[in-house]
Amino acid sequence: MQITTFQQYEEEYKKSVENPEQFWGEVAQNFQWRKPWFKVLSWNFKDPEIKWFEGAKLNITENCLDRHLAANGDKPAIIWEPNNPEEESVTLTYKMLHERVCRFANVLKRNGAKKGDRICIYMPMVPELAIAVLACARIGAVHSVIFGGFSAKSIADRINDSQCKLVITADGAYRGNKQIPLKDVIDDALIGCPTVEKCIVLTHVRTPVSMLKGRDVWWEDEVKHVNDTCEAEEMDAEDMLFILYTSGSTGKPKGVVHTCGGYMVYAGYTFSNVFNYQPGEVYFCTADIGWITGHSYIVYGPLSQGATSVLFEGIPTHPGPSRFWDIVEKHKVNTLYTAPTAIRSLMSFGEEPLNGKDLSSIRILGSVGEPINEEAWHWFDEKIGHNEAPIVDTWWQTETGGIMISPIATVTKTKPSFATLPLPGVQPILVDENGSEIKGNGVSGNLCIKFPWPGMLRTTYGDHERCKQTYFSTYENLYFTGDGCLRDEDGYYRITGRVDDVLNVSGHRIGTAEVENAINMHAGVVESAVVGYPHDVKGQGIYAFVINPEMHGEADLTKKDILQTVTRVIGAIAKPDKILFVSGLPKTRSGKIMRRILRKIAEGDTANLGDTSTLMDPAVVDEIIEASRR
Ligand code: WT7
Repeated sequence: MQITTFQQYEEEYKKSVENPEQFWGEVAQNFQWRKPWFKVLSWNFKDPEIKWFEGAKLNITENCLDRHLAANGDKPAIIWEPNNPEEESVTLTYKMLHERVCRFANVLKRNGAKKGDRICIYMPMVPELAIAVLACARIGAVHSVIFGGFSAKSIADRINDSQCKLVITADGAYRGNKQIPLKDVIDDALIGCPTVEKCIVLTHVRTPVSMLKGRDVWWEDEVKHVNDTCEAEEMDAEDMLFILYTSGSTGKPKGVVHTCGGYMVYAGYTFSNVFNYQPGEVYFCTADIGWITGHSYIVYGPLSQGATSVLFEGIPTHPGPSRFWDIVEKHKVNTLYTAPTAIRSLMSFGEEPLNGKDLSSIRILGSVGEPINEEAWHWFDEKIGHNEAPIVDTWWQTETGGIMISPIATVTKTKPSFATLPLPGVQPILVDENGSEIKGNGVSGNLCIKFPWPGMLRTTYGDHERCKQTYFSTYENLYFTGDGCLRDEDGYYRITGRVDDVLNVSGHRIGTAEVENAINMHAGVVESAVVGYPHDVKGQGIYAFVINPEMHGEADLTKKDILQTVTRVIGAIAKPDKILFVSGLPKTRSGKIMRRILRKIAEGDTANLGDTSTLMDPAVVDEIIEASRR
């Protein structure tokens, strides 16, 4: 199933387009099924309705764990590197991981969880997080992992949207030299979550927490009451595997739904190929399991291929900017998969942190989350890869389940800042505003996908109409990604960024509407408008224009109050980098905010505001420009 030459890539790609069912049917043979499918694919993008491997039965954990036991049971599955480098790292072999997953699966059952139940996971990056995820999958429960940076309100919204029955958390988390009180946050969230019956709490940072009688139980106590045998639940290929919430251009975050069979095949296939993974190698993805990258390329993809996956609790700059390089040296990492924002941040410390570090184990480098600028690409290439390790710039999304457009390591010729070519089975198309295809090379347009792939989302939880509206209605019969894209003379793809009102801040997806709603919750704020602007490290920063007419006290303190409000409503990751108080916003006569103008002002490019003739009150623009310069 591994592609090793460019000619082979071309052949496989051709086959995947000409006969997708045969192509994916063959790929799927590399996985373990309880019962085979009777139909590889049935689909329409209108409803949308997508079914892969119809009729097939499986359990993804048998693919990620059981099937490796006989030959590779003693091989490391997970290497855990703690936040504090003075602490011991932990290695879990496939045998150990299997045992712990089965044991914790029994804990879930003991606490009332069964197939189809939704379970919220809010945990630090510790092995128990991967164990909790896999234990859910083992019993057929649907996990909904929430990143540790989200607020109580965000958690409650997500828990209520999918009516979670159980929550799995920890007393707290370490993040660099900070400590996050996870259980306190969960306690606040659960005040407004009537569907939650039980909360399982892992001891990690050893901070005191409140334990509610009848609801809260300790992970450590629970595992003593059960054994470590747990037959995997037989799942239909199209049964739900997990929900992952992500931001869009409007309203509240959507619960993107992935299903068992197609997701497994897609995560496994793309992992094996894109990273050219070789048995015995150590693979390190620096993402958090709270995001899709962690789901697909720390847990499911690597484990389905019997790989060794490093799970790192901390951050790149703690205790110092050589942390990644220390981890690479210590665990002899062969593949490093990280984000442009991390690269830019580490770049800013110069070469000193690299001195004396042995990076010779590195064979493949990967980037994900946002467009990688050329400067960062070259630094990564030269300083980390010593001009020998191919860089795979992988474009994909929460909704796509796995990597879509990317070089295949050692196979595809790379080009700085280009995600290069579609993987087999992926059929990209560029369209103009009217949905007409833009053919040929040396063109750019809106990026859509015209044919299903096994890892694609099936719905948005509890609201199929929203899935249809968001992804399948902008252009008829196409999946719309929300990204702009350029296809150069070589047919290589370069993602230019979102074309909708979604920001990408340090690789995190944040909707401008969400941030505006949070700011507007602050007493005194009448209205706000949020746009992105270029930020050296974060990629995009958040710029908020705020109308707050009867401001009490000092402007600086009020700004801090607003930041506090955003932190409470969404989480610290959504805090604006800049707040500008204004008396009005540029609106069209129909009352629509002209963000195009605000973006220009945020960028400092006030000489080219474009056409402002449709504005209701053009004078407001001059006033904002004036204020922005102060
Ligand atoms: C959005 C998806 C997929 C994992 C992490 C983010 C942007 C992602 C790239 C890349 C340019 C990229 C896109 C996309 N993006 N990877 N290699 N080059 N842009 O997942 O939170 O669902 O965000 O991230 O804009 O639409 P996500």
